[in-house]
Order: sequence, then C-alpha cells, then structure tokens
Amino acid sequence: MEFKNRDIISINDFSKADLLHIIKVAKSMERPNPSLLKGKILATLFFEPSTRTKLSFIYAMESLGGQALGFDNAAMSSIEKGESLWDTAKIVENYCDLMVIRHPEEGSARLCAEASNKPVINAGDGANQHPTQTLLDIYTIQKVKGSLNNLHVGMVGDLRYGRTVHSLTNAMSHFNPTFYFIAPQALQIPQSYLDELNEKKIKYVLESDLQKVSKKLDILYVTRIQKERFPDPVEYQKYKGYYKLDTKLLENVKDDMKILHPLPRVDEMDRSLDQTKHAAYFEQAANGVPVRRALLALVLGKVR
Ligand code: CP
Repeated sequence: MEFKNRDIISINDFSKADLLHIIKVAKSMERPNPSLLKGKILATLFFEPSTRTKLSFIYAMESLGGQALGFDNAAMSSIEKGESLWDTAKIVENYCDLMVIRHPEEGSARLCAEASNKPVINAGDGANQHPTQTLLDIYTIQKVKGSLNNLHVGMVGDLRYGRTVHSLTNAMSHFNPTFYFIAPQALQIPQSYLDELNEKKIKYVLESDLQKVSKKLDILYVTRIQKERFPDPVEYQKYKGYYKLDTKLLENVKDDMKILHPLPRVDEMDRSLDQTKHAAYFEQAANGVPVRRALLALVLGKVR
C-alpha cells in the first residue's frame, strides 16, 4: 500500500500488511536520519488537551529536521469568531505539508481530510478513533511480547468511551487474539465492535471482575474513565474509581504479563505498579516517537 500523501483517519484503513510495514519502518526510526524531513512543516490543530500525542508529534517532526506550527487553544484561533472546521483546514493547508488534528467530535478528522489537499492525521476524534495511539500500542506489544499473534488481551476500564480501546480492538483483530473486555455493563465496549468480532469469529469474554480473568492475560490494557465524554456528570460519579489496580493484581497473573495504558492515568492504576516487571506503559509512551516519525516520513514520501 502506498503511504505517500495518505490521510490517517481510522485504523480500519490499514491492512495487516500495512500495520506490519509501519512497525518495520518505526523500528528503523529509533535512530533516524536527522535531516530526513528538512524543509517540511507539520501543523498541529488541537481542540482538546494532549501531552503525549501533541508533543511527540512535534518532537518526531523536529528530530527529523522538519518544523512544526499550530495551536492547542482553539479559543485563540478564528474558530472562536465562528470560522468552521472545514474553512480552518482549507486555510491551514497553505502553511504546512501535513496536519495533525485532535477534536472532540467524531468524524472531525475525516471532514478536515475532505477539506484539505494536504494529508491529515487523526490524533483522536471524540470517542471514535485514535489510530496513531494504536500503532504505538501494537509496536509496543510486538516489542514486549516478541509477537502480535495469538495473545490473550484484556482491556479494562471505560471501554464505551475509550477511543484507544476501539482502535486497538480493530488492529489486534488481524492477529488471532482472545479478548477479555472488563468493564461494568454501562461502560462495556459498544455492540458494533462485538458484531465485527463475531463476524470474524474472534473469541472474546465480557466480564466486570478483573480477578476472574487476570491469570489468563498476556496483555492488560488499562484505561481511565473518560470523564469528558459522559453526557451526565452524575453518571461519571457512579463509575469514577470503579477500578483501582495495585500490586494485589500481580498475585494472580502470568509471569510475563505486561500492563499497557495509553495514559494519562487518574486513579485507576497505582504508582506501586510502576517499578514492577509488568509495567510497560512508560515504554509504550516513549514508543510514540519512532512510530510518529515513521508516519510522518511515510506520508511525506521520504521512506517507502
Ligand atoms: N495517549 C494520549 O493520547 O495521550 P495525550 O492525551 O496526552 O495525547
């Protein structure tokens, strides 16, 4: 598949071969050519908060010799004066070679891609998708487990609103996983994802008690309860603090089970886990840099 000038909107736009190719290029980007993207400009349009995604995209661009511009406070852009997202994308295309957008509305990245003649990368659109997070998640799984195939993958927390869970379910489905979706019923993964798994004959278990399945897991993907996505703050209060993982979890897990978390964490995962051999979430965040370097270089046609 040709990556040059391609929009990166949904993980579903990638075949299994594409995913494996990105992992291969990302590996080569651990020690990159520092002038590979000299003269290229990345625009970052962040309508929601971000630490990892925004800064790692900027760092990835600059470490390849490119430059970055953009905003992370939409109130200081002309959106505040009533300009549409469509027009914003049409204007920003004049100032950059590609753009990265995070926005609270599902479909916003695709809208920008339709408006813009420059490639658009989705850095998270509402509760829908976060494809670049998923690429670094699978890069990390490949690194820490040695393979993506035949893994028992648990996902715990807010599976309803957690966009990283949605993208990761789609991506891992290429590799014959068994999924364990661990959440209270109101925050379980949407039925549409289960329908897809049923169609593909992929095994999954729905559970709310992590202890009941923890010993089966190769990967435990922890997510925070997504406060900002709840339409009703009273509902959020009901589920806040529902899971609080600490070292007690480790009494009943495989020796080589690894814990991932897209971060930020709030209160769902105690710092006592950080020093254990199971914690892979800081390494996971660090992997955002080579993976995003790979995406920038591929989309800008500097590697194939
Ligand atoms: N994982 C992730 O998307 O983190 P940020 O919200 O800090 O970008």
